[in-house]
Amino acid sequence: MTTNLCDISEIPDPGSKSFQLNDNGQSLEIFVVHKNAGFYAFINRCPHTGINLEWQEDRFLDLDQAFIQCATHDALFEIDSGRCIHGPCVGESLSAIVIEVVDNMLVAQI
Ligand code: FES
Repeated sequence: MTTNLCDISEIPDPGSKSFQLNDNGQSLEIFVVHKNAGFYAFINRCPHTGINLEWQEDRFLDLDQAFIQCATHDALFEIDSGRCIHGPCVGESLSAIVIEVVDNMLVAQI
């Protein structure tokens, strides 16, 4: 199954945006990061405690826009892999979502 998320122009580069999806009747929160012309999507759940990552609506990146940052205890995650490289969950990873661009539309495999 696929889900249309948004037009690619709606997420600045660098930037990020959250989405609330319906996965077989269950609510699923994900976010997409746009960086260096690439798009990366993950479930919005920190592997440390399981809570949402963002510090403001649609703000998932650190101040340098170099890493995904958890707002609660400042864990840093690589944008391309979702792997935690700093903080209380080093070595763990965000859960990736497969996405692709189809006619300028971001499409998630959900
Ligand atoms: S909840 Fe994310 S680092 Fe602790």
